[in-house]
Amino acid sequence: MDSKWYGNDIAQIVDMDRAHIWHHLIQHKPFETGAPRIIVEGKGMRVWDQKGTEFLDAVSGGVWTVNVGYGRESIANAVRDQLIKLNYFAGTAGSVPGAIFSEQLLEKMEGLSRVYYCNSGSEANEKAFKMVRQIAHKRYGGKKHKILYRERDYHGTTIACLSAGGHDERNAQYGPFTPGFVRVPHCLEYRAQWDGADYGVKAADAIEEVILNEGADTIGAICLEPITAGGGAITPPEGYWERVQDICKKYDILLHIDEVVCGLGRTGAWFGYQQYGIKPDLVTMAKGVASGYAAIACLVTTEAVFDLFKDDADDPLNYFRDISTFGGCTAGPAAAIENMRIIEDENLLENTQNMGGYLLEKLNELKGKHQAVGDVRGKGLFAGVELVSDRKTREPAPENMVQAVVAECAKQGVIIGASNRSLPGFNNTLCFSPALIATKDDINQIVEAVDGALTRVFG
Ligand SMILES: Cc1ncc(COP(=O)(O)O)c(C=O)c1O
Repeated sequence: MDSKWYGNDIAQIVDMDRAHIWHHLIQHKPFETGAPRIIVEGKGMRVWDQKGTEFLDAVSGGVWTVNVGYGRESIANAVRDQLIKLNYFAGTAGSVPGAIFSEQLLEKMEGLSRVYYCNSGSEANEKAFKMVRQIAHKRYGGKKHKILYRERDYHGTTIACLSAGGHDERNAQYGPFTPGFVRVPHCLEYRAQWDGADYGVKAADAIEEVILNEGADTIGAICLEPITAGGGAITPPEGYWERVQDICKKYDILLHIDEVVCGLGRTGAWFGYQQYGIKPDLVTMAKGVASGYAAIACLVTTEAVFDLFKDDADDPLNYFRDISTFGGCTAGPAAAIENMRIIEDENLLENTQNMGGYLLEKLNELKGKHQAVGDVRGKGLFAGVELVSDRKTREPAPENMVQAVVAECAKQGVIIGASNRSLPGFNNTLCFSPALIATKDDINQIVEAVDGALTRVFG
């Protein structure tokens, strides 16, 4: 590891950070006496901090992002070459990498045909909400403007995205929120809200109930994660998505799938929705599109949605009057083209299916060993372990003990994640999302660290 950065040694960097940086999602009081973690370097599945300590990163950059792993020179070169040729022009004009990536992406997304570039998951979701609102005004006199979202789902950090946010603790103190967003129940069977068989159908029926209460003629769209990520790695129960799709058709409601976490390979398919035969009208994606090598997000729509914004060229308001300044940065699509090539050439979807299966198998073994393991869920290299204080009553483990497991894993050189400060009383799910290049040895190291941590924290 280098010891100098821009002429500074690492102690100076730490001082600058402590003096000036407002880190994301973290309480800063402890930094008055201790140093924040600074990640200095990454290669493959591993990163190194300011002390040179090596970590196996089981969460792809902390938040499901670095899907192809660290240190990819070919992406860096693609971005460099593109920046020298042309770094930026506003998205009113096209770009060479933008056009190429759109075609390559849409080849993987049957039934969808238009790509709108922007630069974060929140922004992509906001744009989808704006499209739904504009369609409501164009076609339904503004009436069909409401957007359904689900308890425990997350769609981003802006006020409108929080208005569609199913994490009450995350939302606390940020209201008032944007009107016109309506909540539907979550579908986590381990925390069942309805008795009896066909849980998936029942959970979807609950959406229909909300629609009928609100009035179907007021609902424009429903925004859902294919697998809920930060809200506790919630895989859908059988029959859920078929029923959701039927409901959308029945009431003429657009289906907006938030692929910000699942997008590009995470579940072992290009997109999470493809695992469940879903036919969306709008799809948003960000994190894994370029694996964090450049900021890029996409909102992808059907041609039918697109057509609604050009059907009357004489009407001065009849187009999507929206811009994302940095949606015109060419580094994003240049990195995304190379990111996609790597996933294809290195068979990373297949590896994700195989290693994902192995990860779930190993995590399930922990269930036999530790009473604290209540439920294991996942698809591909996207997994969650819900921790409980009492397996019979399913009393959630307290958040501080869940965080202690995360800290113990870090002491053993493995970075894992956990739902935190999101769901009152239910911040009890450990999260795993290693890069799609993970090997059996990597998975073994991750699960061994969790095994040891559970013993130390829960006994
Ligand atoms: C499902 C989902 N949607 C949207 C977002 C927001 O993305 P961003 O942080 O890029 O705005 C996130 C971020 O974690 C997410 O998990």
